[in-house]
Amino acid sequence: MKRTILITGGAGFIGSHVVRLFVNKYPDYRIINLDKLTYAGNLANLKDIEDRPNYRFVRMDICDFEGVLNLLQDEKVDGIIHLAAESHVDRSIKDPFTFAKTNVMGTLTLLQAAKLYWESLPEQFDGKRFYHISTDEVYGALEITDPAGVEPPFTTRASSGKHHLAYGTSFFTEDLKYQPHSPYSAAKASSDHFVRAYHDTYGLPVVVTNCSNNYGPYQFPEKLIPLFINNIRHRKPLPVYGKGENVRDWLYVEDHARAIDLIFHEGKIAETYNIGGFNEWKNIDLIKVLIKTVDRLLGNPEGTSDHLITYVTDRAGHDLRYAIDSTKLQRELGWEPSLQFEEGIEKTVRWYLDNQAWMDNVTSGDYQRYYEDMYNNR
Ligand code: NAD
Ligand code: DAU
Repeated sequence: MKRTILITGGAGFIGSHVVRLFVNKYPDYRIINLDKLTYAGNLANLKDIEDRPNYRFVRMDICDFEGVLNLLQDEKVDGIIHLAAESHVDRSIKDPFTFAKTNVMGTLTLLQAAKLYWESLPEQFDGKRFYHISTDEVYGALEITDPAGVEPPFTTRASSGKHHLAYGTSFFTEDLKYQPHSPYSAAKASSDHFVRAYHDTYGLPVVVTNCSNNYGPYQFPEKLIPLFINNIRHRKPLPVYGKGENVRDWLYVEDHARAIDLIFHEGKIAETYNIGGFNEWKNIDLIKVLIKTVDRLLGNPEGTSDHLITYVTDRAGHDLRYAIDSTKLQRELGWEPSLQFEEGIEKTVRWYLDNQAWMDNVTSGDYQRYYEDMYNNR
């Protein structure tokens, strides 16, 4: 079946994996990647597929209503997978307005443009889908608990027969009320509410997913894992916020992209699905695994980089623990993470070490100068 799908934020970390998956897996689909190319957008993330006949890149701001509406009409878009956002919590603390603008107003702009365009067609919303990608951070923070005196992490929820680590007995389920704490998560929560409101008020066929921390290739090195891998390589300090006690639930990015593919095609309209790794790690333990892995792959004796750990002032409003319960997705659509964390971390560290040119390009800012020149010279 032929389809035309608009993927927003496709030049970013997760978006580039989703674009690659769709372009490769669905040669009959036309994939339009709409991205503003902020500091986080990098077309080098998509070098391998940029010349494919079923792929088109459009540089555009999701807040540009006229531009988005015209694009939907011109391309006859029948599905939208919306990932474009400001995504870094630390930046949202310094500059909340940009987060409200992109994450809230940008999402609202896309919703309204999709509604207007699809309503103008004879079949209206039939066969259409607006898929909004959100985060587990909208649910707030969970406690760390040790049931029956068992020191966390303990193994739990081993329904798939795999090893699932947890730091508590409560998890984020789809019916939890929203309690965002950072400007980033508040803006994402607000966008989620607008998406659901467009379904409840106008009948727009929406689906929402809330995912835990992703890791893997092409992540901008402001986020913990790529930042620390690069710092270890360059023997720079590793700034651990607070005591390093915060817990995150890590998922390999290609597993998230696979879930997005499944939910885009088979998820129920108006439903929410949580996506997580069943894989909780305390920051400091994860950092020790990273140090060990990077040192080993660089041929350094074990312990070489331990001294780089530097405890710094905690992030303001730092959420203690995130942990997703993705049982619904597993039960209803049969999805589960494919990679064990040890395997995922090994792959990820190897990728960053093998792709130092990508990292240097990003950290030097060269990738942005290149695109500025390219667009200014048109
Ligand atoms: P990212 O920061 O790597 O990429 C964001 C992309 O959006 C970039 O390519 C950027 O250029 C683009 N963009 C930003 N503002 C734009 C605008 N106004 N118009 C058009 N494009 C714009 O982000 P990511 O980590 O890949 O996250 C993608 C989505 O997934 C976000 O919505 C985020 O909230 C969500 N999410 C991320 C994670 C995670 O762990 N990274 C987890 C759960 C959910
Ligand atoms: O949970 C999903 C979210 O995961 C996504 O919605 C966000 O877009 C994504 O950025 C991520 O948010 P986090 O704040 O959890 O990710 P980050 O990589 O910034 O930080 C992970 C943990 O590591 C967090 O507890 C803060 C800590 N940290 C982070 C950095 C960058 C440090 O201790 N030092 C650091 O330098």
